[in-house]
Amino acid sequence: MTAATKRRVSRRGVIKGGAALAAASTVPTGWAIAQAKPLKVGLMLPYSGTFAKLGENITFAIEVLLAEKGGKLAGREIQFIKLDDESKPENAPQNADRLVKRDQVDVLIGTVHSGVQMGIHKVVSESGTLTIVPNAGNNAVTRDLCAKNVFRTSFSNWQPAYGMGVAAAKKGYKKSVWVTWDYAAGAESGAGFKEAFEKGGGQMLPNLTLPFPQTNFQPLLAQIPGLDVDVVGAFFAGGGAVQFVKEYAAAGLKAPLCGSGFLTEGTLEAQGAAAEGVETGLHYGDGLDNPKNIGFRRAFKDKAGRDADVYAVQGYDAAQLLALGLEAVNGKIEDEANLYKALRAAKIDSPRGPISMSPAQNVTQNIYLRKAEGGQNKVVGIAAENLADPGTGCKLV
Ligand code: PHB
Repeated sequence: MTAATKRRVSRRGVIKGGAALAAASTVPTGWAIAQAKPLKVGLMLPYSGTFAKLGENITFAIEVLLAEKGGKLAGREIQFIKLDDESKPENAPQNADRLVKRDQVDVLIGTVHSGVQMGIHKVVSESGTLTIVPNAGNNAVTRDLCAKNVFRTSFSNWQPAYGMGVAAAKKGYKKSVWVTWDYAAGAESGAGFKEAFEKGGGQMLPNLTLPFPQTNFQPLLAQIPGLDVDVVGAFFAGGGAVQFVKEYAAAGLKAPLCGSGFLTEGTLEAQGAAAEGVETGLHYGDGLDNPKNIGFRRAFKDKAGRDADVYAVQGYDAAQLLALGLEAVNGKIEDEANLYKALRAAKIDSPRGPISMSPAQNVTQNIYLRKAEGGQNKVVGIAAENLADPGTGCKLV
């Protein structure tokens, strides 16, 4: 029996029990009993390893939204169950299973790493558990493997890199190479960059890769001068990005560095002067002065003691999406038809600007062109406006 079936069965149990109890009018009804129970939210995120800070920022931001809502969502207390996924794909199905089957979470928010997301996706596609992806970009989750219970408030790997590819071609660069970890996020972002760059008249060489989460970049950097490229694109994130950008600068290569914005996101302080001038494409940037962003950055800093970044924004929006869905069904998460209707139609005032859900339940959003300057990823333009992932192969509705 899948969890969705179980939920439907237990919901019937609750209604039946409620009908019997309602006869004695001072006793709460079944619905009231069910709604009085805290809503269990599983947070399956990396709290250790190269992506630890990403998982922490997502978590802090979810807690910021909950505090703004007075500690409850649609009248429901929230009980978080946190699980460190360590960004280890091999443990992902078992970890997701623990949250879904043992802890019986009502909602799963996770994760950061695309490979781990595949493990979660396998489990929740089976169980029907409402799942909100606050980072991992693997395209399949909102393309051919899309599922009605899975929503993403971050990006597809294709999106930021496609935006950067458009911008790189517009700048007149003609020949490039993508450097990355050899896993879904690296390959899919490389493909997004290539698609846009070649459409704009550029030429891509085969990717230069190393296994995740290794950081022995020197053998890759040593190949670059011989390739005669006029720009280098890259996907790295977290601790690995800090080191790559520093080593790239130290190597004194003539080709400028660009990439998916994760390369310089939440990392600038550690990268220092090495990041100066690096241009990236991302759905967030410093200096976006909309009121939502200004308020969010203040609240996040109070909570976390450090500045917000894209990971924080994605976590905040995962919580905003959940709140909106629960409010539409008065906290009755069992009302799946109306819950999913509300989530699919969501228009969210995000710190990144307005966002909405594509038919495949991925975010449609602006991809900004940013330039790292003086410790900030300054927005210097819009690389791709209101960009939706193509959602290829997704058959929802
Ligand atoms: C991913 O694995 O999908 C991923 C990880 C870290 C990022 C972006 C994407 O910053």
